[in-house]
Amino acid sequence: DAPALIDRHGRTIRYLRVSVTDRCDLRCRYCMAEKMSFLPRSELLALEEIALIAERFIARGVTKIRLTGGEPLVRRDAMDLVRRLGRHVGAQGKNGGLNELTLTTNGTRLTEYAGALADAGVRRINVSLDSRDPELFRHITRHGDVAQVLEGIDAAQAAGLTVKINMVALKGLNDAEIAPMLEWAGANGMDLTLIETMPLGSIDEDRADRFVPLTQVFDDLSSRFTLSRDAHQSGGPARYWRVAETGGRLGLISPLTGNFCDTCNRVRLTTEGKLFTCLGHEDQVDLKAAIRAGGLDAVDAAIDEALAAKPARHDFNVERGAAPAVGRHMSVTGG
Ligand code: GTP
Ligand code: 5AD
Ligand code: SF4
Repeated sequence: DAPALIDRHGRTIRYLRVSVTDRCDLRCRYCMAEKMSFLPRSELLALEEIALIAERFIARGVTKIRLTGGEPLVRRDAMDLVRRLGRHVGAQGKNGGLNELTLTTNGTRLTEYAGALADAGVRRINVSLDSRDPELFRHITRHGDVAQVLEGIDAAQAAGLTVKINMVALKGLNDAEIAPMLEWAGANGMDLTLIETMPLGSIDEDRADRFVPLTQVFDDLSSRFTLSRDAHQSGGPARYWRVAETGGRLGLISPLTGNFCDTCNRVRLTTEGKLFTCLGHEDQVDLKAAIRAGGLDAVDAAIDEALAAKPARHDFNVERGAAPAVGRHMSVTGG
């Protein structure tokens, strides 16, 4: 039987995040620079290679796969991958199959794809929405039209998908909108997860100017809402709270003010076929080279090598003037 995925710190890996493209139709200020160079298409893994590698991870105990990017739905064959991996959802093969196949998306193409996602076995998606104000949304994303995303969210819910909103807290931009967003999300049957901005890749501003500690946000929200810790675990990095007033939930992803690396259960496959074992470090193995040279046996060996070197934790800081922890943007490794 395929050996389980256990790293050198004893953590079991059950969550694979796949960046299906590093490209995106938006240019969020905390994520990308205005002028970005993307990976050459010739370097990308073929869809069949992504699927074979992902299936190898499933065989070795991964139960949750998230497609991300960049914006996953801008890759032309993204839906073919969703359909292929969707066959493993709930599969009761000898290796268990997937509990969840899901997506993190900016929502711009959901009106087109929501139905197909639901048909392929996706039950839940996370949509990034940093503001519901049209002008502020345009400012943060540089290109976005918030109406398009809101229509996309409606389409997703109409197709039966559970939607969670992701919001990166940004000082002086959307921080005043956090409480209203929590109310709006709850009123519309969605959870809201807040995220601390992380120092990945160069952008056109100093992230320190926008950093909001979620400890502070939590204190503010606690004075306006009745929050109680929710035992629910998504298998991701968020810690969840029930919001009595809305009936919804609040998730907090606090890599800076509340490190969660002790319970890390994930690795990341890039569009170029690199396997990164930590968001905050350069450690990687080349699964594209492995699969092309030696097939799945070579992939297994490379995965084992990667897990034997998985870092214990990141050392992110967003102090003024500090260089990003790693040069690559989040879109390369898929967060
Ligand atoms: P759920 O399954 O709904 O809990 O989602 P998730 O939080 O696992 O995934 P999502 O793509 O919505 O990620 C939200 C944020 O968490 C993104 O900004 C990710 O980059 C960040 N994130 C995910 N994994 C890690 C991690 O291992 N370390 C850090 N620092 N951030 C992470
Ligand atoms: N720090 C924190 N979150 C980020 N995202 C993209 N770049 C960063 C960053 N540097 C968020 C997106 C999306 C999620 C997958 O990652 O807004 O919600
Ligand atoms: Fe895991 Fe690294 Fe993310 Fe920490 S930063 S949770 S160790 S991937």
